[in-house]
Amino acid sequence: MKKVLVIGGGGREHAIVDALSRSPQVGKIYCAPGNAGISAQAECVAIKDTDVEGLKAFALENGIDLAVVGPEVALAAGVVDAFKSAGLRIFGPSKAAATIEASKDFAKQLMAKYQIPTAAFETFEDYDAALEYVKKGSFPVVLKYDGLAAGKGVVIPETLEEADATLKDMLLDDKFGKGKVVVEEFLTGPEFSFMCFVDGNDVYPMTLSQDHKRAYEGDKGPNTGGMGAYSPVPIITDEDLEFSLEKVMKPTAAAMVSEGCPFTGVLYGGLMKTPQGPKVIEFNCRFGDPETEVVLPRLDTDIYDIFSAVADHAPMPAIEWKKEVTMGFVMASKGYPGSYDKGYEIVIPEERSDVRIYHMGTTHKDGKYCTSGGRVLMVVGFGADLQEAHDKALAAVESIKCENLFYRRDIGWRVL
Ligand code: AMP
Ligand code: GLY
Repeated sequence: MKKVLVIGGGGREHAIVDALSRSPQVGKIYCAPGNAGISAQAECVAIKDTDVEGLKAFALENGIDLAVVGPEVALAAGVVDAFKSAGLRIFGPSKAAATIEASKDFAKQLMAKYQIPTAAFETFEDYDAALEYVKKGSFPVVLKYDGLAAGKGVVIPETLEEADATLKDMLLDDKFGKGKVVVEEFLTGPEFSFMCFVDGNDVYPMTLSQDHKRAYEGDKGPNTGGMGAYSPVPIITDEDLEFSLEKVMKPTAAAMVSEGCPFTGVLYGGLMKTPQGPKVIEFNCRFGDPETEVVLPRLDTDIYDIFSAVADHAPMPAIEWKKEVTMGFVMASKGYPGSYDKGYEIVIPEERSDVRIYHMGTTHKDGKYCTSGGRVLMVVGFGADLQEAHDKALAAVESIKCENLFYRRDIGWRVL
């Protein structure tokens, strides 16, 4: 039986642990650092996801057969490179390949060079030059800080005053760190998340999902890491999917090979169905969160075989998906994505078979669950259709008791 180490400690990692626990080949799962919910299915070890040396030492000492990386910060810290040079098997992209997410400018230059459809853009280091460019363009305009900013590095000003203030934050006051700004054309249309398993030039699509990025109902309020998701996405046609695979994901994987940083792991295309067809909003170098929590429960293939095929550059098994569909609601701490308090007790009734609760930010205190993060739970319902999945999930959300959580009731509004 195989021993697997999952790196990370959120809802995404809970869903990965859950999928691995369904594999008949996997005997033992460790999760570093994990969380209270994950500890029901894996042994949590107190090593930070960016402690590359600590993770490597743990894997060597415990005879880990395969490691799987969740968060981008671990990938950007070079965990895959370190494991590989120690002869350890690991699923995820190298630090060089992770740049597709870590640097917006790298991703945009790559798309421009290889004619991958995306919003028109220009990159600036100089505040005055950026302001001049923005003055000549139209509003809203999209300003993206060039670096990892935990989902907060994108601002979409409606006015010149607002744009000026943002450019000052990003380029003069270094509020996000020292970096560049990508100024982008504002696109319109529904977004969807297209995650693919990628091994160099080989691209294996997952079923589609849709996230809800804004904090409040009606897609209002600040951008978050994601407040809910569902899978599949009926508004995306087979033609859109074919285009997204053939004209976006495959050429991007090939471009990474040509650039000398072949991608291995999950390439996440954040796409928008614009009036001119699907275009790239962003790439991520990892599974999405909360998308993973609605996609992996639908997987009908042994995930250990999939991870192994990518890690070993070996043939991929046929990837099958269940007919059953999923929709999930994020329960977040009041105040998120701004500042929030932690340590509130959560009472979760016994889980039903048609609902799965993934823990995003929980700890144990005196044998009880407590909140420990901005996003706390992702409550996923299963059904024959999205309405049924929605109703199951929402009923479960309403049965969870915690005084400091909020959620959006309108997850799935585009399709219900
Ligand atoms: P990103 O971190 O690049 O995914 O951007 C966060 C969010 O900002 C996206 O999910 C979109 O809703 C929005 N956004 C980013 N780029 C654009 C764009 N070019 N046009 C319209 N909306 C955008
Ligand atoms: N839910 C969006 C992301 O994982 O980046």
